[in-house]
Amino acid sequence: MEQVAASESERGQLVLRRREDGSIELRANGVFVMDTVETSTEVALAVRALGLHADPASVLIGGLGLGFTLQATLADERVRHVAVVEIEPALVGWMRDGTIEHGPALLADSRVTVHVEDVAVALREAPRSEYDLILLDVDNGPGYLVHDANAGLYRAPALEDARRATRPGGMVVVWSAAEATDLEETMGTVFGRFRTEAISYDVDLQGRPETYWLYVGHC
Ligand SMILES: C[S@@+](CC[C@H](N)C(=O)[O-])C[C@H]1O[C@@H](n2cnc3c(N)ncnc32)[C@H](O)[C@@H]1O
Repeated sequence: MEQVAASESERGQLVLRRREDGSIELRANGVFVMDTVETSTEVALAVRALGLHADPASVLIGGLGLGFTLQATLADERVRHVAVVEIEPALVGWMRDGTIEHGPALLADSRVTVHVEDVAVALREAPRSEYDLILLDVDNGPGYLVHDANAGLYRAPALEDARRATRPGGMVVVWSAAEATDLEETMGTVFGRFRTEAISYDVDLQGRPETYWLYVGHC
């Protein structure tokens, strides 16, 4: 395993490693975040959310990661603008300068703007009704936070900010690696019980079956 790049921020250490088979993995403070081999769930977040909307022209993605949700979003020709919000400046740099090989082509798409900041702040400061879809994939779900400070994202004030930033008819979609009944309940208070949906989907992680969840708040 070769270390390709590393950086320190106030949140700790971010490391990019290349495996013997050429695939890349991202780790934060030693904890596995994602890799370039098993990306079906990052893609599914985009494809399933876009499938819920008739005209998803404007999309916000919280968490650039290695860019697979972004790539799947850009593959939808109905999408005219994607704001990507990523908290780690180093990761955006590695995507821009080709340290992550597929990064430059992805970020060169004229529909993409990248914001280096906390998505909670971006949502708080977003104009009302700016987006058709808001996709949040910054942790492994509310039960498995990459950064403790992200806990607030799954509470009412931040979800209210997301709702306000979404056009009527749009949706806020939160990805989770596990069933998250507390989140569903909180979203029920923010979006309305009958305007909150929990969607589970099965993925095959190289022979290992897993079930992941999307929590959808309809605006
Ligand atoms: C699981 S990865 C996202 C994967 C992405 N969907 C993809 O397709 O590659 C989570 C990303 O969210 C970022 N992140 C974590 N907390 C954040 C926050 N509060 N605001 C913005 N980005 C954040 C992490 O640095 C990481 O890049």
